[in-house]
Amino acid sequence: MELLSPRSGVSQIKPYRPAHPEGDDRSWIDLSLTVNPLGPSQKAINAYRLAAGQIHRYPDSLQVALRRAIARSFELDPDRIVCAAGSDELIQLACLAYAGPGDEILCHENGYQGFQKAARVAGATPVIAKERDMVVDVEAMIELATDRTKICYLANPNNPTGTYIAADAVQRLRAGLPSHTLLVIDAAYAEYVRRNNYTCGIDLVDSADNVLMVRTFSKLHGLAGLRVGWGYGPTGVIDVLNQVRGAFNVSVPAQAAAVAALSDDEHEERTLAHNAQWLPWLTAELQQLGLRVYPSVCNFILVRVPTDPSLGVATVVEHLARRSILVKTVAEYGMPDCLRITVGQEDENRALVAALGEILA
Ligand SMILES: Cc1ncc(COP(=O)(O)O)c(C=O)c1O
Repeated sequence: MELLSPRSGVSQIKPYRPAHPEGDDRSWIDLSLTVNPLGPSQKAINAYRLAAGQIHRYPDSLQVALRRAIARSFELDPDRIVCAAGSDELIQLACLAYAGPGDEILCHENGYQGFQKAARVAGATPVIAKERDMVVDVEAMIELATDRTKICYLANPNNPTGTYIAADAVQRLRAGLPSHTLLVIDAAYAEYVRRNNYTCGIDLVDSADNVLMVRTFSKLHGLAGLRVGWGYGPTGVIDVLNQVRGAFNVSVPAQAAAVAALSDDEHEERTLAHNAQWLPWLTAELQQLGLRVYPSVCNFILVRVPTDPSLGVATVVEHLARRSILVKTVAEYGMPDCLRITVGQEDENRALVAALGEILA
């Protein structure tokens, strides 16, 4: 008798493990997730509350108001936008729609974990290109592209490394990939990047028929708990994603709050100013404590803890937990000596540095 079993790749997916210890409900300084320390915009909260009276209805399956609001904000064609329950859903749907057993999915070594998961859920094989010192190496990616490569995922900038590659490198990657490969550019942290040579990928989508850009309301807009993401791509790719997504995948309050969030420039500016102040501050403070800090263009930083037998990552994490501070270990990314730390509010950042100083100084 044959036993019930999932696809072979599914057993290789490690369940997501929160930094928060189960059942420990004290009030943590949570720097383990890459969310907005200032919270959501008041306009989004108001819209969310107003939507409460409508939650007996199904959401707008065509996502009209939200697609139009995104299109207005970014000067895009609303017909080439699709929304989903977080950009994670789009990352997965792209794989399910375009790849299956026998196909390959090109990822980068320290790339966002959702990519490999998407490949495995679809039954496809992740193929991992090496990075150079925590930065994507596009030539290494191009070298691994084959007849079977259906999707190439690029997180730019990337989580958990916080690093990015310049527009000319993304362009080289696109040009070096076969025409049967969909390049998915995940620009979840695009708004935070303050570099002239950066592109979020809109120009690449516009110049090719095999590039999809995915974005999220979870980071800058502080709506992680509502789960809203969106994609911009060629009509054919957007049509396919609309075919495979659930008709009602973005809830009524999520659509309403996301539309309102886009209208709150003041909240966006405050968020970016906060990050512009505290990202360099944290970087400098942690460097002074002897940690290697990778250059981040995001709202978090990746640090390497010196490999000292008496003071490894585990000791640091335990000490921080004693001070009620949570950070993210990234051993599952193959970086057992590193921690990812999100920029928090001022008092949270100061508490983190003080706590680290107690054991590292
Ligand atoms: C690079 C990257 N892509 C995608 C996501 C998924 O974001 P969401 O599903 O909340 O839109 C994250 C979340 O941490 C991320 O860091």
